[in-house]
Amino acid sequence: MDAVRIYGGNCLCGQTTIQGSKNASLPILAATLLINGICEIENCPDISDVYHMLRLLESLGCKVEREGSLVRVNTEQLSKCDMPADSVRVMRSSIMLLGALLARTGSVSMEYPGGCVIGARPIDLHLQSLCRMGVAIEQQKQGFSAESVRLKGAAFRLPFVSVGVTENLLLAAVMAEGMTVIEPAAKEPEIQALCEFLNLAGARIEGNGSGRLTIHGVKKLKPVRYRIPADRIVAGTYLCACMTAGGSIFLRDAPVEDMESVLEYARRMGIIIESEADGILVRGRACKRISGVLRTGCYPDFPTDMQSQFMVAMAASGQPGQIEETVFENRFRIVPELRRMGADISVQGSTAYVNGGRKLCGAIVHAQELRGGAALILAALAAQGTSIVLNRHYIDRGYEDIVIRLRELGAKIELA
Ligand code: EPZ
Repeated sequence: MDAVRIYGGNCLCGQTTIQGSKNASLPILAATLLINGICEIENCPDISDVYHMLRLLESLGCKVEREGSLVRVNTEQLSKCDMPADSVRVMRSSIMLLGALLARTGSVSMEYPGGCVIGARPIDLHLQSLCRMGVAIEQQKQGFSAESVRLKGAAFRLPFVSVGVTENLLLAAVMAEGMTVIEPAAKEPEIQALCEFLNLAGARIEGNGSGRLTIHGVKKLKPVRYRIPADRIVAGTYLCACMTAGGSIFLRDAPVEDMESVLEYARRMGIIIESEADGILVRGRACKRISGVLRTGCYPDFPTDMQSQFMVAMAASGQPGQIEETVFENRFRIVPELRRMGADISVQGSTAYVNGGRKLCGAIVHAQELRGGAALILAALAAQGTSIVLNRHYIDRGYEDIVIRLRELGAKIELA
């Protein structure tokens, strides 16, 4: 079955090594299309979103090899620029290939990537911005085709910060004619990794991590070997597993420097966190309330991708709390599932109110998207009794071997 069974009540103990970042791997794999040759990407996580991205690259004519966490992408035989509809449907992150394919081939046709339960996920700002770089876009019924003879640099003052738009514009700009300025640019660690990768390959990107990126177009990029940084959201998810079930876990390779806001709120909820040279030791169980509202925002503010996991830690702590979601319009889909487990949570607009004093009980619950699904597993770890989390495939999109790793940490958990 596409599910996980958890017998709640065990605390967690031991260590786990944090995988490479999904949200750094995807744009960097897309960026290999800009380079005619063989790029070697180390610490690439073995998760289904990366699997689908690699299949997409192969469908365009690239050769892809995987040896453990090392992925080699050879784009010398890149031959097509139509993205297969089934791949785009399965993985909306295929929109990241748009800028790179236009830069490499001058032409792309693709279906509109779907939205998902957390929001409509429009791509209007992607398309509007690329048009300003000389791209002609013809909207069709199911999708669109995009053509550009030569991408031209432009100065952007974006209406809001968008991770995906920043990534697409970076990939379109690095070999465009002239200079491009992106402001406000996303500052997420995954964007910083993409800029590092591109500069290592010979791009000229200034202002990495500053919120204002200046890109001077170059003629060519060269093949590189690059190591993907550890996944700060996966590290935060295992931190929340400890906050929810209690115990003591060493998170090897956790990117502490990228997790400040998450670690700050975990400490406020009563968790002891000790930084070591090669990771962090987290101990205890969430037992204190956060005064005020836990508000999500753009990096370095508290990440929206950690919102569901902290909601679960609050619900399990028995303390009241308030969470405001400012990035996506529908990212409280976990609430009805947590109510089924006995949590007392109400939602008004973009704010969720977690009322304390309740114990979580085992139940059959449905994962509906990646981070909410992982959060339901955390809730089941703390619940009294047995839970089944259905639709495990959502969780496999971003978490390598989560069942095995939690079992190694002492959880009573199995594939169902
Ligand atoms: C990236 O999504 C991440 N995905 C998301 O992680 C993450 O939650 C999000 O950034 C915010 O940090 C990947 O990196 C693969 P946005 P992205 O463009 O690029 C709106 C996970 O769990 N918008 O910064 O799609 C959009 O609807 C995933 O790993 C437009 O309106 O996020 C959203 O409300 C979930 N028009 C806001 O901007 C556009 O053209 C921010 O989205 C583009 C975006």
